[in-house]
Amino acid sequence: EGKIIRAKSAGFCFGVRRALDLVEKALLDGCQICSFGPLIHNPQVVDSLRKKGVEIIDDLGKAAGRPVIIRSHGAAPEVFQQAQEQGIEIIDATCPFVRRIQNQAAELVREGYLVVIVGQVDHPEVRGILGWAGAGAIVVQGMEDLNSLKVTAKVGLLAQTTQNRSHYFAVARSLLGKTQELRVFDTICHASQARQEEAAAIAQRADVMIVIGGRDSANTNQLAEICRRFTRTYHIESVADLKANVDMELVRGAHLIGVTAGASTPDWIIEEVIESMAMFDEEMEKAQGGEVEAVS
Ligand code: F3S
Repeated sequence: EGKIIRAKSAGFCFGVRRALDLVEKALLDGCQICSFGPLIHNPQVVDSLRKKGVEIIDDLGKAAGRPVIIRSHGAAPEVFQQAQEQGIEIIDATCPFVRRIQNQAAELVREGYLVVIVGQVDHPEVRGILGWAGAGAIVVQGMEDLNSLKVTAKVGLLAQTTQNRSHYFAVARSLLGKTQELRVFDTICHASQARQEEAAAIAQRADVMIVIGGRDSANTNQLAEICRRFTRTYHIESVADLKANVDMELVRGAHLIGVTAGASTPDWIIEEVIESMAMFDEEMEKAQGGEVEAVS
């Protein structure tokens, strides 16, 4: 008899919830607003916001008098400066954990450190941090990037909030001995870490893992990658995606199906996916609220 387990840590994190609350509040006040880049990496949520009148812009010049929301990933200081010069109101939804990294980056630069960020070079969070870290900062993604890295005497190491902890520490270890001074900041977000650990714990027991979240969502991709180490894993965005891309025979035959979701995946999508899998097999017992304790 099959069973579905939903990870307790699946879905919205504190930073995403906060950003959405700020948008809702502005909309309630009757504001027309824009977001500087898609608010979160979830196309379904971004779509529903668009219908409520939240326009995505990539250039502050397009704000046309409307307040502009800075998403939880944050933005480079130039964006805030430009807004001030142009008299544009900013609703700052930068996640406080991201803000902390930005501040650390700026401080390290002031103190003469080379800032090295472990993360994805194209991710908006990393691009934002780079803005605070000055022109000399370097982004390292995989271990192979370290070969070409030219380090100076003082290095400050920071991680994108959604990085995998063991990878980050491996990078830190390999920098030891290459520089006179190495400062390593543990900037991985706890919500991300707890979600990754719980996903791994469930994936070790499950026949199939369903990881729900936007294709561009860094933390969802991380989750899928972790689950793949243990079991057959599907990364899907929605129910439509489940139906189109998941081998439903496999779902039917599974004894245990694990479900988790990234930080930007709304509850209703998670529920919809679980329901549609449960419906597929009448026998399937729907586990309410998850059965696996988050590993801490
Ligand atoms: Fe913030 Fe962590 Fe979410 S950094 S946006 S609470 S994943």
